[in-house]
Amino acid sequence: MEEIRPKFYITTPIYYVNDKPHIGSAYPTVVADVLARLHRQLGHDTWFLTGTAEHGSKIAESAEKAGKDTQAFVDENSAKFSLAWDILGIAPDDFIRTTEPRHLKAVNVFFNKLKDSGKLYEGEYEGWYCIGCESFKKESELVNGLCPIHNRKPEWVKEKNWFFKLSEYGQVLLDKIEGGDMKIMPDGRKNEVVSFIKQGLEDIAVSRRTAKFAMPLPWDDKQTIYVWLDELFNYCSAIGYGADRENFEKYWPADLHIVGKDIIKFHCIIWPALLLAIGEQVPKAVFAHGFFTVNGQKMGKSLGNTIDPVELAQKYGSDAVRYFLLREIPFGQDGDVSEEKLKARFNGDLANGLGNLFSRTTNMIERYLEGDIGEFLKSPKDLSMASEAFYNLGFAEGLSLIWKEIAWANQIIDKSKPWELFKTDPAKVKELLLNLAALLHDIALKISPVMPETADQMRKVLESGNIKKAEPLFLKID
Ligand code: MSP
Repeated sequence: MEEIRPKFYITTPIYYVNDKPHIGSAYPTVVADVLARLHRQLGHDTWFLTGTAEHGSKIAESAEKAGKDTQAFVDENSAKFSLAWDILGIAPDDFIRTTEPRHLKAVNVFFNKLKDSGKLYEGEYEGWYCIGCESFKKESELVNGLCPIHNRKPEWVKEKNWFFKLSEYGQVLLDKIEGGDMKIMPDGRKNEVVSFIKQGLEDIAVSRRTAKFAMPLPWDDKQTIYVWLDELFNYCSAIGYGADRENFEKYWPADLHIVGKDIIKFHCIIWPALLLAIGEQVPKAVFAHGFFTVNGQKMGKSLGNTIDPVELAQKYGSDAVRYFLLREIPFGQDGDVSEEKLKARFNGDLANGLGNLFSRTTNMIERYLEGDIGEFLKSPKDLSMASEAFYNLGFAEGLSLIWKEIAWANQIIDKSKPWELFKTDPAKVKELLLNLAALLHDIALKISPVMPETADQMRKVLESGNIKKAEPLFLKID
């Protein structure tokens, strides 16, 4: 009988290439990478997709400001994202760009299907449009006439365009959400979506007349496809929609879309409704994470006070940045980040905690056991509590469980003083060191989705057969 492997298709938002990556875009990408690594470890047929959103007026504007041809500009900036992910130890299975032919083709198929569904009609729209958000804003969403996310004045747009009958989908969406077909996490976000739907959904414009650098509508080249619809479709185009049905069906529906809380209406309302209109399944789950502030201040590309994850990784190492992001902010909540906080975690949890435990243990194994721990290391059969926490998206919780073990082990060493005990009871020291080696090996397995480099470094030493005092895993920074 053929073995059935569970599949796990995980995605991040695709990032606007009007700027380079910042810590806010690194965050969901690190999270998705950690989950992908964990699912691969469990033997699941895993597919991890990320990419860049390259159409729209905002990007055209930024290219113009930079004095560059738009396509050249997006090529350059998209490359910055894939390079940044590489530096952060993020290994996606695919990286989609919305200017790629495979995506353009799939979106055309999608739009023709949408038109055939009878759910589109021509109408006129009038309203405020924020180029920063690439979306229309209700009067009530503006603060002093400005978009509160981008601090910029939206433009008044009056256009004749195509509309999608989103208003028809309220009940079916509520059924999917409340029946668990489409899970929305955390609960607070789910409640927000549900109450928004219950207020009644309005139809949305799916084309624009005045947008720059956008895809033409397949049946009317005077209009362009609204960039958000083009972008949402990346999740399907990347796995072969309209080109390779077999592969598409292998991975669709997505098991988990990771998104920021600012874009949940797109992902939990518009996206599933569009999918239903074209006869496809809705995503199984959407998780919305919180927003970062920097030293208590709102952060964003548009505001200019961003933290560069690449610089941090170059200074502290990619594993430290990954650890920090997952440990510092409970997943789903807002959080404040700063280099100071990262440094405190680095020196405390990493250098003094794990690093110290590893170097003193390997040092003592070299000294008291001549580097020999025999066949002592075993691979655990069950998922540890920490891995289970990661599996359930409790990253801070899982890491805190592991770091409790580290603190405990460091204390045992301090208390039992093997360097004195060895003179009177070497057998006891041997037993202690073998247990510490096993514990460290187990820790390496558990942290490996979050800190793949450190885990490899630890396993290499522990599995070497002749253990020598290891190079420090983390060098304290003053
Ligand atoms: N292109 C759209 C997403 C389309 S997905 C089909 C977009 N791009 S974005 O580059 O502006 O933002 C991408 C993600 O980064 C969003 O999920 C957003 O929540 C996240 N973040 C942007 N700034 C952030 C913080 N300050 N903190 C945490 N996440 C933030 O939206």
